[in-house]
Amino acid sequence: MARPRTIFRCTACDQSAPQWVGRCPACRAWSTLEEEREPGRSVAALELGTPVPARPITEGDAGDGVVVPTGLDELDRVLGGGLVPGSVSLLGGEPGMGKSTLLLQVAGAAAAAGRRVLYVTAEEGRAQVRQRAERLAALHEGLWLAAETFIPHILGHVAEIEPDLLIVDSIQAVSDPEVGSAAGTVTQVRAAAQQLVAEAKRRDLATVLVGHVTKDGALAGPRVLEHVVDTVLAFEGDRHHALRLLRAVKHRYGATSDLGLFEMADDGLRSVPDPSRLFLADRRAGVPGSVVVPTLEGHRPLLVELQALVVRSPLAQPRRSAQGVDGGRLSLLLAVLDQRAGFSLAGHDVYALAVGGVRVIEPGADLALALAVASAAGDTPLDQDLAACGEIGLGGEVRQAAQSGRRLAEAARLGFRRVVVARSAPEPPPGLEAIRVDTLAQAVAAVGLSTTVPARS
Ligand code: TYD
Ligand code: MG
Repeated sequence: MARPRTIFRCTACDQSAPQWVGRCPACRAWSTLEEEREPGRSVAALELGTPVPARPITEGDAGDGVVVPTGLDELDRVLGGGLVPGSVSLLGGEPGMGKSTLLLQVAGAAAAAGRRVLYVTAEEGRAQVRQRAERLAALHEGLWLAAETFIPHILGHVAEIEPDLLIVDSIQAVSDPEVGSAAGTVTQVRAAAQQLVAEAKRRDLATVLVGHVTKDGALAGPRVLEHVVDTVLAFEGDRHHALRLLRAVKHRYGATSDLGLFEMADDGLRSVPDPSRLFLADRRAGVPGSVVVPTLEGHRPLLVELQALVVRSPLAQPRRSAQGVDGGRLSLLLAVLDQRAGFSLAGHDVYALAVGGVRVIEPGADLALALAVASAAGDTPLDQDLAACGEIGLGGEVRQAAQSGRRLAEAARLGFRRVVVARSAPEPPPGLEAIRVDTLAQAVAAVGLSTTVPARS
């Protein structure tokens, strides 16, 4: 066998290079190349296994299309029903998001349903995981726990226990001693994942891997895994809120558009089947600068309250603050409000946020955000039962938001009586009246706002 030689690999994009350079030739990132020794045996060869014969496409396996519900409704919603035997999923998220919690709940539910589950904890100790399992009511006979970091040992446990579900927490913390680099490096992460994928396919074993994501959203290392696994799930949320959003970034077995919502509680993650009600629960009537938008997360309509505050600014460059809404979009809307609707906010600080720790960055929220700013600027509250949705162009024109039908249905379901929409928007369900407008200026007038910004000290 050839002597292993040293190569360098970019931790950002996985490009390899024969010698170290300061800047990755492929992705142009600085100082991302790391030394690695090429493994003595080819990682690709591990995947080969026994060949599977080709067959006519009309011949289906008995097991084709089987999905096993996880028992967590919101997770099943995102997965399109549940986990597919033999599939490998990667659950990515920042530390502290609740990945271990979610998967321990999944493990507990599967074990409670009579399946065999192997939970490999490579980061936390056995005692710590057991303690958490008690809190999550996940102590069941069928749930096996192994504190293990070496791939060969993990595969040994799999062979012995023959689980129906394998969870590895996390892929960055496991390694194969035969691969010559440290745990957590791109080479190790990929080699470990490839072996687990091969095992999953061989045994028809549903496997879920945890992958940590850095603050800027990149799957550190696991970026390279996205191609190796069948499904990539992203678990997101605002650290200061209990709300957690789960979405499929990649899904070989279904759509990637459905959103799952959870709430972190003392006894683990709880499904949030009616998020709109949750987001609007603490809404106060008669406050200027508040407008509800029926927004869309994938296919899922959510009613979210947008708030704005406009105050006279002592600064030469007034402050613009956006939380949970897009800062660039806010600036654009302020410019349109100024030029096309007569709101001069040059001497004012403008704060805007989406209530409840959710991010509303789609253009369908433009009209609601602009009306929230207009309402705040004029210190005039809008009616409590009024919602708004539509995109705004630079000419001040209002366009129909994507999938307006779903949005209007959700607004009607939650008891809203009037909604400001583009002229071309579909007819809303009975009980919800459409206020149709062509421009932002018309919208401002239609909801009874004046363009004069009152002088306040
Ligand atoms: P964890 O699952 O450890 O996150 P991750 O694996 O993504 O790093 O959980 C993170 C946080 O959740 C932790 O700060 C404690 C909190 N938590 C609860 O609020 N309730 C619970 O029942 C559990 C288990 C955790
Ligand atoms: Mg964890």
